[in-house]
Amino acid sequence: MSAAMVAGALAAGTLTATNVLADGGGASDERALAPVRGAPDRSVERRVDRLLARMTTEEKLQQVQLLSDGQITDEDARAGVGGVFSLTDPARIDELQRIAMTESRLKIPILFAFDTIHGYRTIFPVPLGAASSFDPDVARTDAKIGARESTTVGIKQIYSPMVDLSHEPRWGRIVEGNGEDPYLGSVFAAARVKGAQGDDYSRPDRAITSVKHFVAYGEPEGGRDYDTTDLSEQRLRNLYLPPFKAAIEAGADTVMCSFNAINGVPGCANPYTETDILKKEWGFDGFVESDYTAVTETINHGTAADDAEAGANALMAGTDSEMVSTTIRDHGEELLADGRITMKRLDDAVRRILRVKFRAGLFERPYVDQAKAVDPASFLTPADREAARTAAGRSMVLLQNDDRTLPLDPAKNTAVIGPLADSQHDLLGPWWGRGEDADVVSVLSGITAGSTGTTTYAQGCALSNEEPADYDPAEDCPSDAGFAEAVAAANAADQVVLAVGETREMSGEAATRSTLDLPGRQEELIDAIAATGKPVVVVLLNGRPLTLGDVVDSAPAVLEAWFPGVEGGNAVADVVFGEVNPGGKLPVSFPQRLGQVPIYYNHEPTGRPCDVTQKYNSRYRDLRSCDPLFPFGFGLSYTTFDISDLRLSRSTVSRKGRVVASMTVTNTGDVAGDEVAQLYLRDPVASISQPVRRLRGFERVTLEPGASTTVRFTLDASDFGFYDNRGRFVVEPGEIQVYAGADSTATLTKSFQVTR
Ligand code: BGC
Repeated sequence: MSAAMVAGALAAGTLTATNVLADGGGASDERALAPVRGAPDRSVERRVDRLLARMTTEEKLQQVQLLSDGQITDEDARAGVGGVFSLTDPARIDELQRIAMTESRLKIPILFAFDTIHGYRTIFPVPLGAASSFDPDVARTDAKIGARESTTVGIKQIYSPMVDLSHEPRWGRIVEGNGEDPYLGSVFAAARVKGAQGDDYSRPDRAITSVKHFVAYGEPEGGRDYDTTDLSEQRLRNLYLPPFKAAIEAGADTVMCSFNAINGVPGCANPYTETDILKKEWGFDGFVESDYTAVTETINHGTAADDAEAGANALMAGTDSEMVSTTIRDHGEELLADGRITMKRLDDAVRRILRVKFRAGLFERPYVDQAKAVDPASFLTPADREAARTAAGRSMVLLQNDDRTLPLDPAKNTAVIGPLADSQHDLLGPWWGRGEDADVVSVLSGITAGSTGTTTYAQGCALSNEEPADYDPAEDCPSDAGFAEAVAAANAADQVVLAVGETREMSGEAATRSTLDLPGRQEELIDAIAATGKPVVVVLLNGRPLTLGDVVDSAPAVLEAWFPGVEGGNAVADVVFGEVNPGGKLPVSFPQRLGQVPIYYNHEPTGRPCDVTQKYNSRYRDLRSCDPLFPFGFGLSYTTFDISDLRLSRSTVSRKGRVVASMTVTNTGDVAGDEVAQLYLRDPVASISQPVRRLRGFERVTLEPGASTTVRFTLDASDFGFYDNRGRFVVEPGEIQVYAGADSTATLTKSFQVTR
């Protein structure tokens, strides 16, 4: 996929040339972005106006209320509550909707929502895994099936995609996003929106997406979930906002504001991000819902004295719908009377919610097809399973394969070992929707099914699936008591699949870890099994970058499988036995040690770049390297590739012009395989330091042995330019360096000049 295709067809780029400021020195007073939306549909607007004109203040205050499944009552439905989330019983959904449609005065349908993050019942790989595919079709298919299954039970809005860029592997929610790169994140954000919504989300099998968490929720201090973020304007705009904008350009009509504060201002009471940028600058005309109790939590943030003030701040900042806390509904009348909120703003919030409900066709089709909703054949069909299996295979990243240990021979005898080898539960990862453990193909089952030899099993040790209140890290793989049995199984077999990693409870919301090591004594287990000298592949099941130095020292082959979803075990078998040649790439850097965090490829340069042979520079005294263990974009294959012949269509380009960069990818090995051609840019001299590399194009290609292909990327001002600290998009004259290769350390380079 070229940069131009991404920007155009997927609407996933950041800017088009016409939006870009263009004065010689890169300075201008103009705002950079044209509104992303076209003209509103007049008939929808008329219906909104007519309905709004009939609403009482009380009904408006109900409409901006969003309640959980545990909160909602018949009385709320009768009073005209706006939305309900996490309720997935189709009969109860219809019951509440019938009350809203027949017993409420204005008969406004309720919008039902759910966290369909990587599947509803058919659970796909976790989003960080999907991003590793560098194939937006993986995310698109996941979202499409998730939307179909969700809408089947009456869910019309999904709280996805989560597009929070993060440099924080300690943070459990890094698993829900697309990693550390804004370009990759934008492509995947758009793909998920298109997958779930299609071109028209009123279709019965399509769902409205809510892009979250607006914004910069991915950089909490210390990695502690919900913690504060302090951010420069240029980073906000160059790193964190682009995936949101890409999602909105792709059609996302709802946005969830975030728990965290940026520069002291909470995400759901932030007029700058919610109103100035999102609504005014970008022209977003859908609605913003708060995150769970985020409005009342502004009291804890210390920016509101009480619920009334919290509600007033949130509404006036641009939050349109309040999740779980009820400050606006409870205090709205008094706030209006005091002039602390305005009717104009309340009307605007209600208008936005109604607009989305009309666009969704909810007034015409408020009810669930109950027969279909309770028919097991509506969910997790054989085709859905096949799609999940393909997605999981494409998401796996081969980190090490010494002596071509992989693929293993399916005809030989395989020992399947490890605390996660026979787990169904953990393979779903966090946010498993309505996926069920019993649906899952474990690694053991997958290997057994994929092998014609015998398969034996030994757990070695166990991990704890307890939730925080009862969790004791000392219970994770606490002893070596089971190691002897595991070693005996390895010795008796020809080859070993060793499944280690994290439990699903270790990732996701409120699951920050203070270490990135494999929990418990798993590394010792790996050492013990590797010492048998058998061909061993370590299969990692986890939701974040881990510190794997000792693992790669010990095990000949290491496969990053993430939490691969319902078909995870089959997909592991496909890759391990060579049915699928792995082609995934890391969407996030893996540090050597925790102390390197944050470490990411697209960092700004320093005055004293890292040099381990010298003292006075930006390095660690106790590390003999400046690098992560595995860089962004890295991943091996069972074959080898060469990327060569980087060409640029021109050596100078005006700020409104385009340059085509091409490269040749050749499969130099002896089996068919996938490579991801990657294109990075650097602006070496700019008014503010520019990242040492920025991904601006990628394409995953499949090549037979000996075959070559040429991959082209069209670059324009959206690629050459950047946001400055005054929030302006600037394109400065001067050199742009281009790097082509198979990961972010690519050395093949050329450059062109941007002219005035
Ligand atoms: C999470 C959101 C989620 C919401 C509703 C919150 O705790 O931060 O991502 O959509 O709950 O379940």
